[in-house]
Amino acid sequence: MNLKKIVIAIDGYSACGKSTTAKQVANVLGYRYIDSGAMYRAVTLQFLDRHVALTNPREVSRVLEETNITFNLNSQKESETFLNGLNVEKKIRSMRVSEMVSQVSTLKEVRDAMVDLQRKMGREKGVVMDGRDIGTTVFPHAELKIFMTADMLVRAFRRQRELLEKKQLVDLDEVMENLVQRDRIDTTRSESPLRQAPDATVIDTTYITLDEQVDEVVRLALSRMI
Ligand code: CDP
Repeated sequence: MNLKKIVIAIDGYSACGKSTTAKQVANVLGYRYIDSGAMYRAVTLQFLDRHVALTNPREVSRVLEETNITFNLNSQKESETFLNGLNVEKKIRSMRVSEMVSQVSTLKEVRDAMVDLQRKMGREKGVVMDGRDIGTTVFPHAELKIFMTADMLVRAFRRQRELLEKKQLVDLDEVMENLVQRDRIDTTRSESPLRQAPDATVIDTTYITLDEQVDEVVRLALSRMI
């Protein structure tokens, strides 16, 4: 059977399992996984390193022009983020970046540049992309849209464990505060705020396992591929 290549858009709040699910769904379907959040995180790292004044649109645009973001597969076939040729996968997950990323992501110049890049990356379809505005702005015609949610405490606990696996010990309170702040900025910004697309399927990951999440998205995807 000839299966149609589709675009799968996974949006939702911070740390509710979007990336982990998206990666595994991409593996099962033989699709490319694109982490749009990693792109905003890489821009944030660049802005922090260059001490960019976020209130100066000209400076923002100038540094953006010197920002080249790519993804490469490592030896385990996992996608890693590169900024101007350097592997920044670990650095972009630090709290230093997490604390600034939502502010940087409100800027129109930043969003225009990232959305443009994301559309290019998804042009050939056969992609799973996760983020905040994928089903609403980047690919409003995506064949499958998922909106993920989960209880705050569960999200904070999962994120703290992820950070610990990367040898970063952060208090649960601090993790939770960051998620609350980011959700607030992400849902209230004027440029493509985080919203559930009307045609998205909601998956609440609070009480389900990762395998169940993945199976559900794959099942929905297959129904759109025939
Ligand atoms: O993995 P986590 O849920 O912590 O967040 P992420 O996907 O790495 O995204 C980090 C931040 O980038 C978000 O809190 C948003 O501020 C921003 N972002 C965005 O504005 N639009 C996207 N499509 C993806 C991320």
